[in-house]
Amino acid sequence: MTQDELKKAVGWAALKYVRPGTIVGVGTGSTAAHFIDALGSIKDQIEGAVSSSNDSTERLKKLGIPVFDCNDVDSLDIYVDGADEINGHMQMIKGGGAALTREKIIAAISRKFICIADSSKQVDILGAFPLPVEVIPMARSYVARELVKLGGQPEYRQGVVTDNGNVILDVHNLKIMDAVALENKINNIAGVVTVGLFANRGADIALIGTPEGVKVIE
Ligand code: 5RP
Repeated sequence: MTQDELKKAVGWAALKYVRPGTIVGVGTGSTAAHFIDALGSIKDQIEGAVSSSNDSTERLKKLGIPVFDCNDVDSLDIYVDGADEINGHMQMIKGGGAALTREKIIAAISRKFICIADSSKQVDILGAFPLPVEVIPMARSYVARELVKLGGQPEYRQGVVTDNGNVILDVHNLKIMDAVALENKINNIAGVVTVGLFANRGADIALIGTPEGVKVIE
């Protein structure tokens, strides 16, 4: 099976967790895109979606799925999204698609975070994938210097402006042993909007695509 077939399998497997009549939290990326397509097949059974990016919003709308403003929704039943890495504690690195801030907001208002990922995303220790940090543009150099003090090598993601008008620093060479502590530390640097570590609020369920089928971790 190709990696995309594994992503498609988990995207469709997540449909099982969608309750009729609810508004669904929807992530961003190639795996989440498969989930959106799956959601399209049951669009008449749901009220709509809250989206984590302009790209996902566009895909949802093309399929005729109503998209709600996050401010108009108190809480969500589920949030379904991919990950760049997930460890055995259900902690994740996210933000490869630069949508980390909106993803974190939707995760925060959702009762269940369902991570959908192919098995290449499973790791023992987070950090081989460069950790994305969304930063206010004027703070870019300062934040980069602070990230170096934490042992990382930040790299400015050239040409990328987030949906919120900010920039991304990708932090290389981190071996993240205490993900909660690092998430808190980086979030405390002035000028940081969000760090793509999802450790304080990790996944509740992971659907992992393997050649043998979809593995469910709860
Ligand atoms: C976007 C994300 C994605 O979930 C993450 O990058 C995984 O992407 P893909 O499903 O394309 O492998 O965090 O900001």
